Amino acid sequence: MTKSLRIIESGIEHFAEFSKHAPRVFFAPGRANLLGSHMDYNGGVVMPVALSRGTYVFAALRKDNILRISSQQFGGEVIEVTISDLLPQRAKGWACYIEGALWATHERWQYLGGLDIHVDSDLPIAKGLSSSASVTSAVVKAVASLFDIDTDCDEMIHLSHLAENGYVGVRCGVLDQTAVFLGEKDSILMFDCLKLTSDHVPLDSDVAQIAIIDSQISRELASSEFNLRVAECTSALSTMQAHVPELTCLRELTANQFDEYKNHLSAIEQKRTQHVIDEVQRTRRGTKALRAYDIADFGACMTAAHYSLRDLFEVSTDELDTIVKAATDVEGCYGARLTGAGFGGCVAALVHPQAKAEFETHVCETYKQQTDIQTSVQWFSPSDGVREIEL
Ligand code: GLA
Repeated sequence: MTKSLRIIESGIEHFAEFSKHAPRVFFAPGRANLLGSHMDYNGGVVMPVALSRGTYVFAALRKDNILRISSQQFGGEVIEVTISDLLPQRAKGWACYIEGALWATHERWQYLGGLDIHVDSDLPIAKGLSSSASVTSAVVKAVASLFDIDTDCDEMIHLSHLAENGYVGVRCGVLDQTAVFLGEKDSILMFDCLKLTSDHVPLDSDVAQIAIIDSQISRELASSEFNLRVAECTSALSTMQAHVPELTCLRELTANQFDEYKNHLSAIEQKRTQHVIDEVQRTRRGTKALRAYDIADFGACMTAAHYSLRDLFEVSTDELDTIVKAATDVEGCYGARLTGAGFGGCVAALVHPQAKAEFETHVCETYKQQTDIQTSVQWFSPSDGVREIEL
């Protein structure tokens, strides 16, 4: 039996003990962002894939207005609240992403009635694979389906994003929720966060597969320096707008404008802005490379992005750098970079299938030698986005 089938079976069993109603089951994947780092909240282009691992939500309607929430990852505790208890000030603890999604959907849809919700996941939590957006998106999809709401992906992306921004207090962009909803099997999503347009480019698994290597260092976005990076970019934008009033986001700043006015920025803001300007170029080059099936050049952009995240955006760690160096030393690895916000978590690499065995051995042995940390490599091909699982 596959791992996902086991999760579904045990989730249904658990639900029978937890609720007297029969559940419907929803799945939202995690994601790996291959290019376009810290670009979403700067209006740039992001290039993620949805993963085959993610969050499973088992949910049923209740006749009263009680919300009962439980999670396989957080033991036997059951949280019971009513919708009016859900206020952003309350957001803390393991259930805050689930509560955030219930709050955001209620703000928008004003649904009447309660829910029993049980959550399980096969995605590593707080490892840069978007476990939070995976939870919020699966709950949003469950609420929309159970209350039979006439909605679409754009609105559900917005509500999943609102759950994190408005309830949990992470100032993230829309990368994660968009990847989770719009991901498609065997393709890389290209999403323009300013124009809100999307496209899919195929990734042939005979040419490249996605390796995810866990540094085994966790980080919580809510408590990391993530919001500080957003604030630094916002401050750089507002200084630049004094000189280039038509700017709406940092992505629109040209290299010439930056050179002309950069002395008005602090040294740190100059570094952050330089990363954005260079990443705009890399996503353009990466887009052309993908369309021309030039995975080697796309991979080179990924690795260059990693070193920019290390040196200019300063969100890497020694452990992530060690993995990227070991990965890119293997012939057959097209490129590697930290995926997600940084500060720990995972590296994503693109690897030719014939190089998989050597890649695993070299990366894991080098990482163990240099950091004394044991890791492993998980292999993925791009998967489909959020869906209901028909039982
Ligand atoms: C986190 C955020 C995203 C995005 C990435 C960095 O995953 O949730 O919105 O900013 O970091 O690219």
